[in-house]
Amino acid sequence: MAKILPIIIAPNKILREKSKDINPEDLKKSEMKKLLLDMEKTMLQEDGLGLAAPQIGKNLNIFVINNKGKTLFVINPKITKRSWAKETDQEGCLSIPNTYGDVLRHKKINISYINEKGKKQKLGASNLLARIVQHEYDHINGVLFTDKAENIIVKED
Ligand code: CO
Repeated sequence: MAKILPIIIAPNKILREKSKDINPEDLKKSEMKKLLLDMEKTMLQEDGLGLAAPQIGKNLNIFVINNKGKTLFVINPKITKRSWAKETDQEGCLSIPNTYGDVLRHKKINISYINEKGKKQKLGASNLLARIVQHEYDHINGVLFTDKAENIIVKED
C-alpha cells in the first residue's frame, strides 16, 4: 500500500523554505493518511532516524521519527522548552548523502504537536531523540545540519 517516495537532495530550494502548518481536519482525508504512511515507509526503507516533509517535496510542518522501532508522527510541532545543557554529536541526513558533521544541540527539549489522529501531544525528549527532533524541526524551517555542523566529512559510497 504505502510507497517509497523519492528524496529531495540538496541543494534544492524546497529544502530551504519555511513549511506551513496543516489543518488538523485534513488528517481525516485519505490523501493525508497516505502521505504519512508513505513518509514512514520511506524513512524505514532508507534507514533514516527521521524524515521531514520538505525532504519528499512538501513544505508542510510534518515529520516522522523512528523512535526505537516505533514511528512517531509529528504534525505542527512547536519546541516549547530547550535545556541550557547542550551536547555535540555527529549527524547525517538523507538529503545530503555520504556527509557527516558534528552538531551542537540542546540535550533536552519539550515539544507540543498533534499526532496522526489529530490528538494534541506533549513530548519531553533527551539525548538522541532530542537531537533527531531538533534536526527534523530545522528541516521544516529550511535549515540543514550542514549549516550548523563542524568537522564536516564526506565518505565515499
Ligand atoms: Co535531515
